[in-house]
Amino acid sequence: MTVKTLLNWSVLWFLVFFALPATGQEEAKIFERECAGCHRLPAMVQRNWDAKRWQETISRMHTYGAAIPQKDIERLANYLARATKGRRQRAMAYVADEDLNEVLVLDVDGGKLLGRVAVGKAPHGIAVTPDGSRAYVANMGTHDVSVIDLNANRVIATIPTGPNAHEVAITPDGRFAYVSNHSQASVSAIEVASNRVVATIPVGEAPHDLSVSPDGKWLWVTHVDSNDLAIISVSEQKLVERIPLPSSPHGIQVAPDGKLVWVGLIHRDSVLALDTASRKVAVEVRVGNEPYYLVADSRYVWVSNEASDTVSVIDAMKKRVVASIPVGQEPHGLALTPDGRYLWVAHRRQGTISIISVEKRAVVAEVKVGKRPHKLAIAVRSSEAVTKK
Ligand code: HEC
Repeated sequence: MTVKTLLNWSVLWFLVFFALPATGQEEAKIFERECAGCHRLPAMVQRNWDAKRWQETISRMHTYGAAIPQKDIERLANYLARATKGRRQRAMAYVADEDLNEVLVLDVDGGKLLGRVAVGKAPHGIAVTPDGSRAYVANMGTHDVSVIDLNANRVIATIPTGPNAHEVAITPDGRFAYVSNHSQASVSAIEVASNRVVATIPVGEAPHDLSVSPDGKWLWVTHVDSNDLAIISVSEQKLVERIPLPSSPHGIQVAPDGKLVWVGLIHRDSVLALDTASRKVAVEVRVGNEPYYLVADSRYVWVSNEASDTVSVIDAMKKRVVASIPVGQEPHGLALTPDGRYLWVAHRRQGTISIISVEKRAVVAEVKVGKRPHKLAIAVRSSEAVTKK
């Protein structure tokens, strides 16, 4: 290609980008700049709102410290109204059942069972890739990971990891799936593109839950037996730091803005928030008995208290418990629906899921699901994928 044609191409690209009306690129950048610190776009587009409602809501974000210029508010509101019009996508829940050795597929609207996928023995943890195309399931009984193609609802790979493969976390770019090997004091890094283990990283005793920072750089791991946390560098695939804690950490999740990490101390009946920059404990709040798992969005942290049959609700800004919701027996896995309106809670003992309304802070429905549902993941499916069952 000659310099002249190259120049011509540059002129053409210049015209395409700057002379034509924006087609959403610019708005996506505004979202990235003004909102992504606290929200994710897929959750946003679940809301089928008009421009006025978007504008009112975005204006309200000033209360939380966002400083969004007025012209961007209008532009983004119009864009989101256009982007979300009639586009409410269908969400599916994928529930790992430890007794049935299956992942059950449920429609989030109504809780109907749509399918079941046989996996390894005693599937414990589950995570879905950010594009919603695959689920990675850690099988405690077969010490491996089943990879499910969610378009076909079938297992496409089984990857041996380590003794009592426990929980799974996937990086936000969808490149790596991390698995804690509970009885080996290690974490396996699986490359999603090849479905191969690319690193086995030594950590502390009894690694349990995992959470990746929103910038995709750090993996946080709880050790139930050595009373501390591990931080793994994703780029180096190695342990870089261990942080001692007052008691056994179990569930963990980095907050959406990456500034805090929420950790449940299972034998101290508390949840603490650790400042990710200073590594200091910002606050410790008392919750119910034996807090197992937690999920955090920009507004609340939800905690399943397995021994008191409740879900604690922590206000993420005020950092205190604002509600304790009675649920079924032994609440374990938790997942928020993509529209942020409901929390699904799995009850391992009862074989049920409680559905909590975020607004009402109460259980509004209960669904019978399998025999021993442990963890679950909720993901948006494209309509094409749904009909292709
Ligand atoms: C500093 C953090 C922060 C930033 C930045 C921020 N928000 Fe929020 N947003 C929140 C919090 C906290 C809530 C929950 C409280 C509420 O609903 O009033 C929330 C709630 C929302 C909701 C749900 C409201 C409802 O009624 O269901 C929407 C939609 C939303 N934000 C959109 C946006 C958009 C779009 C932007 C960017 C222009 C943005 N936010 C920027 C913190 C933030």
